[in-house]
Amino acid sequence: MKGKGKAEKQVLPREGIRIQSGYHSPQLDVKVKLNTNESPAGPPDNFSDALVQKLNTISWNRYPDRRATALRSALAELHGVVKENVFVANGSNEVLQTILLAYGGHQRTAAVFEPTYLLYNHICNLTSTNIIGFPRKSDFSIDLDRLDDVFATSPDIIFICSPNNPTGKLEETEVLTEILQRSKALVVVDEAYGQFSSFSAVDLLSDYKSLIVVRTYSKTWALAGLRLGYALCDQAISDVLWEVALPYHLDSFKQAAGEIALRDAAAMQERVAFLVSERERISEGLLQMGFDVVASQANFILFGSEVIDAKLLWHALVEQGILVRDVTSFPKIGNRLRVTVGSHDENSLFLKALQQIIREKKVYYSR
Ligand SMILES: Cc1ncc(COP(=O)(O)O)c(C=O)c1O
Repeated sequence: MKGKGKAEKQVLPREGIRIQSGYHSPQLDVKVKLNTNESPAGPPDNFSDALVQKLNTISWNRYPDRRATALRSALAELHGVVKENVFVANGSNEVLQTILLAYGGHQRTAAVFEPTYLLYNHICNLTSTNIIGFPRKSDFSIDLDRLDDVFATSPDIIFICSPNNPTGKLEETEVLTEILQRSKALVVVDEAYGQFSSFSAVDLLSDYKSLIVVRTYSKTWALAGLRLGYALCDQAISDVLWEVALPYHLDSFKQAAGEIALRDAAAMQERVAFLVSERERISEGLLQMGFDVVASQANFILFGSEVIDAKLLWHALVEQGILVRDVTSFPKIGNRLRVTVGSHDENSLFLKALQQIIREKKVYYSR
């Protein structure tokens, strides 16, 4: 920009802050969006009606309840803990960021098992936290025999995403307890997809003071647009997280909406049951077409084939109006794509498009 008084030099952000590619799923204007693991349907009708009524009772001129007491009490009741065990923030990404602001930073180290959710790496960079990635086994599970390598680096925080994004793999209880028992680190189990799976680390909270379970409203509660997430942990940790969060970081609207959503847990369970059955239908369809499918306990499926070029397949699907996530650039994922479980019709369109693409044989590697 030219003009009098405008400095010529560019002020650079501090070392380590750099825009990295791959964190944001590209958004395209297509008819079937199966790329960001959202719920295909919005929240139940009761939710909007109750929220509209609630809006008239909010004192908008006042700051919100700084500690979100009502919302935390409702979440505590849902999970069988007390509100002192609950920290809430604007999406689970902000929960993760708050954890890293408090327990990460200069001369602190976080360990992750790759492939996993890319935001751990990103937020570690933002908070100047050293991050070490350890490879998983070829079936994408955590290698118990190599945990000594992890502990040898004395991490301050260990992130375990379970079910893991982008593989959908659930971590066995045995793996979690082994890590919790043997490590001095804070163990963060990210259960963004927890309700889709058969086991939750919430059950381990009473036994381990170093455990934090992170949850979100973005998936099963069908409220990605609300930006609300929370952590369940020992009070000694949640007290620290509250100290680190900015004053009044969670607005009155969000607190009300979060509490109202929990009133319809039955509708959420029904939604989960439907998505789980659709997940199995898609997995079956993919297997029948000859793809390798990673058994998923989440609302998405990782799939690929040795003979098919995943990037070409991604483009071919986009041409058919279907957007899935190209994860080929993620560390240690290889030639695979990730598809979110959508509505029944969307899933059928996806399977049909795949069949057609395979028939046309344009996406195969040339021999
Ligand atoms: C594993 C995992 N953790 C956290 C998040 C972030 O969720 P939120 O929308 O609550 O920030 C996501 C979102 O896709 C995710 O996949």
